[in-house]
Amino acid sequence: MPSPSKIVFNVPSLMPEDAARRRSGAGPVQPAPASPPPRESAELIEQGDVRKLATLLEVSQALAGTLNLETSLYGVLEVLERRCGARRGAVTLIEEASGLLVVEAALGYPRTAGRVRYRVGEGITGGVAQRGKPAVVPHVTEEPEFLNRAVSRDARHDEGDMSFLCVPILMEGSSAGTLAVEMPFMPERDSERMIKVLRITAALISQAVRIHNLVEGERQRLVEENTQLREELRERYEFSNIVGNSGTMRRVYEQVAQVVGTGATVMIRGESGTGKELIAHALHHHSPRAGKPFVRVNCAALPETLVETELFGHERGAFTGAQARRKGKFEQADGGTLFLDEIGELSPSIQAKLLRVLQGREFERLGGNETVRVDVRLITATNKDLEKALAEGTFREDLYYRLNVFSIFVPPLRERKSDVLLLADHFVEKYASVHQRIIKRISTPAIDMLMAYHWPGNVRELENAIERAVLVADGDVIHGHHLTPTLQTAEASGTVVSRSLGEAVGVFESNLIQDALKSTRGNRAKAARLLDTTERILSYKVRRYGIDPRRFRG
Ligand SMILES: Nc1ncnc2c1ncn2[C@@H]1O[C@H](COP(=O)(O)OP(=O)(O)OP(=O)(O)O)[C@@H](O)[C@H]1O
Ligand SMILES: [Mg+2]
Repeated sequence: MPSPSKIVFNVPSLMPEDAARRRSGAGPVQPAPASPPPRESAELIEQGDVRKLATLLEVSQALAGTLNLETSLYGVLEVLERRCGARRGAVTLIEEASGLLVVEAALGYPRTAGRVRYRVGEGITGGVAQRGKPAVVPHVTEEPEFLNRAVSRDARHDEGDMSFLCVPILMEGSSAGTLAVEMPFMPERDSERMIKVLRITAALISQAVRIHNLVEGERQRLVEENTQLREELRERYEFSNIVGNSGTMRRVYEQVAQVVGTGATVMIRGESGTGKELIAHALHHHSPRAGKPFVRVNCAALPETLVETELFGHERGAFTGAQARRKGKFEQADGGTLFLDEIGELSPSIQAKLLRVLQGREFERLGGNETVRVDVRLITATNKDLEKALAEGTFREDLYYRLNVFSIFVPPLRERKSDVLLLADHFVEKYASVHQRIIKRISTPAIDMLMAYHWPGNVRELENAIERAVLVADGDVIHGHHLTPTLQTAEASGTVVSRSLGEAVGVFESNLIQDALKSTRGNRAKAARLLDTTERILSYKVRRYGIDPRRFRG
């Protein structure tokens, strides 16, 4: 039985050919002469070095050629096979979860080799990983420590004498895996030279694995972040977040329900700030396309010169500065929804281009010939009077009919007065939480001001007004004077009726009394106590300011 001492760890001092000579009785190798090598052998060394460099160049090219680690590892093994005469090659890496050495790529082994695992310290491969030092087994079949897990002993029988060379893949000073090759035993082989090549190759692999891990870690982080953001978006665009109970809004909900599960093209109409974008998002996030992208294009912000590349993308070199291929919005939205916002702002030339894409759902990237086909659901929105634009000839009729398949009209806020309070409460809650304030309610006079105002900026204006009020409120109640100056004007709210001091004080006093009555649900005696006055004085002022305490009872 040959002794395991034939396995050589570290850069081998005992060459396989020593063993061969000893077995064949050829006697020990003579020590190399100390004098410089003769001319021919120097040339031979030079040739060998050139070959070695060429091999390493190919190895580094294989590693740089693709981002897929497994493919590049196969590339490396293939180079070792082709250039160094390796019959087999395998790369193992330590799996983080199990701590086992797992075969990442294996060339020349049976298919089952891919499932082979070693514990660190187990067999030759495990030993190399444990010690962080190379090993050479000159005669695989004679080595009892050789586990033959990847190739059975029987299968090895017919293939002749093989040597096994294995080096560690080191990362930050410790083993991250191994690189091993098997080559036919040749007494004259310089295994030290081969080990050197393998060590440099392992260092290059280590670098590639490190980059792969970094990229993979970042990719994983992005995937997780993306999933979380999608979930947040979904929650944000839950239908329950669209506030409003008015008859006009209920009609909107009915229309939304009719199209939400279909792939129909939807056009959302309504004044600025009415909630068109909110509805577009909700339509996407409750459709079968919810898991795919929702891509918004603001047509009003598309410069004429950039519109093509923005919508359809461009090929590399399509114009100066186009250093890489870029996907346009249509391609980004593939499988999902493309939301063309402010569609009424499109210039005639862009309208024509868009029409062409909508007719065929295919296009070419700028500077390219390849036809790109996409599957997108279109939702558009506008606050423009498109019919007027049609009559004036500024909006194409054919495009209009393509986009106006199903229309949803979002009513202006002044036509759904009953929603104002619901929305105001919703925004108080939202912004109190955002700005970490405690706001318990909106005072009655402030409510009256909100109700009296005509809201030309619709829900957006209401939202802004409430956010501001939450920020400026000094207590836990939003009072009339916390609202924006626009709401304070006589024309806007009818609340401030006079500029005289007496009348201004009267308005203030009336507001205070109404607040107190609201807190006490219309109970005058309690309200008087709250304001530190008598019920008689309070009743007098209630009559004077024409306040009806009954309205606070409910
Ligand atoms: N029914 C609603 N419930 C809750 N929030 C709403 C509602 N309608 C609108 N909003 C809010 O009002 C703001 C304006 O809405 P959105 O951006 O959807 O308006 P828009 O109709 O697209 O306006 P524009 O035409 O100016 O683009 C958003 O912050 C939105 O969340
Ligand atoms: Mg909008």
